[in-house]
Amino acid sequence: GLSFQASPVFDCFPEPNGASQVSCEARGCTWQPDSSNKNVPWCIFKDGVGYSLDSQSGSTYTLRKNNGPKNPWGSDALEIKVTTKSIGNILNVHIGQAGRYEPPVDFPKDVASSSETLSFKTDTTNGLFSFQIVRDSSYRKLFDTSLGGLIFSDKFIQLATYLPSSNMYGWGENTHQSLKHDFSKYLTWAMFARDQPPNSGSLDTVNLYGVHPYYMIVEPDGKAHGVLIVNSNAQEVTTAPGPSIIYRTIGGNLDIYFFPGPTPEQVTQQYLKFIGTPFLPAYWALGYQLSRYGYTGLDEMKTRIQAVKDAGIPIDIGVADIDYMQRYKDFTTGDNWAGFSDYVNQMHASGMKLILIFDPAVEADYDSFQRALSANAKFIEWESSSQVQRDIQNLYPMAKDTKIMLGVVWPDKHVGFPDFLDSTGNTQKWWASEFVRYQKEIGFDGIWIDMNEPSNFGTNDAHPWYFDSDDHPNDAPLFCPTNGSNEWEMPPYKTRAVWKFGDASNNAFLASNTLCMLGVQDNGAQRFYNVKNLYGWSEAKATQQALFQSTGKRGAVVSRSTYPSSGKYAGHWLGDNTARWEDLRTSVIGAQEFNLFGIPYVGSDVCGFIGTTTEELCLRWQQMGAFHSFFRNHNTIGAPAQDPAIWPTVAAATKQANLFRYQYLPYLFSLHFTASKDGATVIRPLFFEFPTDEETYDLGYQFMWGSSILVAPVVYQNTNSVHVYLPTDVWYSLFDYKYGSLISPGFTTVSAPTTSRIPVFVRGMSIIPRQTPTITTTATRLNPFELLIAPCEMGRGKGVLYWDDGETIVNSFNTHNYHQFDFLFNTTTTGGRLTITHSRKASNINLPTLDIIEIFNFPNAPDFKSFTINNIKTNINVQTSTYSGVTKRLYIQTTG
Ligand code: NOJ
Repeated sequence: GLSFQASPVFDCFPEPNGASQVSCEARGCTWQPDSSNKNVPWCIFKDGVGYSLDSQSGSTYTLRKNNGPKNPWGSDALEIKVTTKSIGNILNVHIGQAGRYEPPVDFPKDVASSSETLSFKTDTTNGLFSFQIVRDSSYRKLFDTSLGGLIFSDKFIQLATYLPSSNMYGWGENTHQSLKHDFSKYLTWAMFARDQPPNSGSLDTVNLYGVHPYYMIVEPDGKAHGVLIVNSNAQEVTTAPGPSIIYRTIGGNLDIYFFPGPTPEQVTQQYLKFIGTPFLPAYWALGYQLSRYGYTGLDEMKTRIQAVKDAGIPIDIGVADIDYMQRYKDFTTGDNWAGFSDYVNQMHASGMKLILIFDPAVEADYDSFQRALSANAKFIEWESSSQVQRDIQNLYPMAKDTKIMLGVVWPDKHVGFPDFLDSTGNTQKWWASEFVRYQKEIGFDGIWIDMNEPSNFGTNDAHPWYFDSDDHPNDAPLFCPTNGSNEWEMPPYKTRAVWKFGDASNNAFLASNTLCMLGVQDNGAQRFYNVKNLYGWSEAKATQQALFQSTGKRGAVVSRSTYPSSGKYAGHWLGDNTARWEDLRTSVIGAQEFNLFGIPYVGSDVCGFIGTTTEELCLRWQQMGAFHSFFRNHNTIGAPAQDPAIWPTVAAATKQANLFRYQYLPYLFSLHFTASKDGATVIRPLFFEFPTDEETYDLGYQFMWGSSILVAPVVYQNTNSVHVYLPTDVWYSLFDYKYGSLISPGFTTVSAPTTSRIPVFVRGMSIIPRQTPTITTTATRLNPFELLIAPCEMGRGKGVLYWDDGETIVNSFNTHNYHQFDFLFNTTTTGGRLTITHSRKASNINLPTLDIIEIFNFPNAPDFKSFTINNIKTNINVQTSTYSGVTKRLYIQTTG
């Protein structure tokens, strides 16, 4: 392997199929084959690539292309500017040229305070301009471009930096097999939104549904920082020795933000306040969801939901996939779904909710499409009428005289893609009005938006798979110009995104599975080449408004394609995984990454989407998924049913896991409330809580639920125990194994048979609000509260509960109607003292009574005369209490 000290080299031939000596030297690069190491690029740049400093005026530096090697992918910009500014303690470095494309994303840019400051320094050694971002408290260089390699041309930009440590997390959306990145292999991770199922079976750096040019690093002293590159073009990042990264994008500018931390959670808070904190899901949206693609009709959906209920498994949400539609047309109901509306009313009466899928693409031949045109809504268009594919367009009277770029998705006929960047707002208004209209027909509560990369079937493919099916009579796929002269379809460099399925020999186009890059949006103001990665983001934003208008409630939206700040509008699921153990494992990592990205309402298709699951895998996935905020069993068409009621063992384990989740919902909800109000993660990697403990740096398969609960799921087949790492602290078992007792920190193997709850630990110093669980979140919400007190070594604990009506739209937390309770606990020499501060009072929101207090590691049998709540002994009416001198567990039941 490569040592971290090795100097990185710059790949001069990153295209698929690799270089030959001839093609390499033709670019003016050095051919340096090394058959002992196929990970190192063989065609490398000569030294000296970069810019020199021309002049400086205030915080703006004017750079000139130096005499070093030239860019093989276009002419180098002769002059670029580097401008720095501070936004609170966040440092911004902008590299590029005025007038170039910048993503039209409206970050609030709110500032969270920080005790740390960063400085911008420059260097001009050897005539090469470079800059450094330095942490003032430690003098550590967090970013250092003296590595060289700066290239800036119209459609190829490269920036490289040394990193202060290899503890790097984030970048997406990709399937990461480890939480921490690997710097030993020159891995290049592609970022370009594509309808691409994750491949967890082998190391694959292919681009998936969303784009997140954001990473976090834990420095050698445990301080952390975050870096966001605001750029929405097709892009990629290479992890190289040094450690270093080489970032490339094929458009726009580099608008880089540095978040100083110093803790990982503070970095996240700073990042989220800047891009926009996540939406608060409705309380019910934290319930269990049952879904599948391929229900034959309403009857099957009813039967499967009933089976789950009959098994006593808590469930809140039924989900209908595209099957419910009339031939896959949005806002229609299919023939086998007669009575759907009555069923939804029944669901509501029993405290359940409905989430419906909607695809962005609407068929160009029915009333919703006609209403869009009448409302002057926009679709993604060809730039000029001469580009329109007449043979297709002429099939559709409604679209005939438009420039709408017609594609192919699930509907029988061609589709148009609504333009959610429409600055007139007409498209967003029409979109919302369709939801308002349809919600009156089928009373859905939440919205699932899929296929919004956007996905288009068969682009540039003469023999697309989908058209073989009888479902699709119109086998006329979209063709984009692929001659070398088309600057948008065939830019000089296309990024790793065209290495379809990670296979260099299977070349794709940027337009593969999507629309043509030369398309335009917002009446020609935006080029699809630039804004494609914002499609899911812009759809989520419009759809959240549509949800609010149609239901009048906050509900929840989940989106497949995401971009920084998508979390403000929607959650995410990790896409079309496969029913394999490795996919269970990568989903544990993926959920942690999306929390870093500010999208905490996230989860995976539980039990696996593609392929046939097994009883054991499904059981373990249900147990793990019960800790993911978005918790949905989902399955593909044609695969055997996999809801937990199918197998008695899975049903039993799911019931147990769901009851645990439902019991702890007040805690989970409070985590989401904090994330939404202040910016925070809900699920977080262990290093977030223990950043100076190196053992935590790559524990991808364990995670924290907030700061208090540690979850160690079983993610391997045939395994009845978990080798778990508990950082130095006080930990108590919260699962079947030694429930309530202290567990020593360090590595420890705990028993986890399929019949018991998976390993969960609560950390000392915690007070966790919970409720007795029942069959839905709606019913559980009415049950009395409980507090679990897990004291630290000093016998203390603290916690918080946020409580609102669970469904009102949050316009601002300043005016939002909610309760806040702060809990403090002290063990005293004779008993205990619990202080509950009702820090914020809501009006007209009923509060269940506090009936149960469970305290771990309580020193003595209690003397209730000296056990006080808010210093008032009489406030608590002890009905029964049990205490064990062995487990030191005290359980107090009060009359409320
Ligand atoms: C693709 C989605 O990723 C999947 O979850 C869904 O079932 C299918 N589309 C059908 O709508």
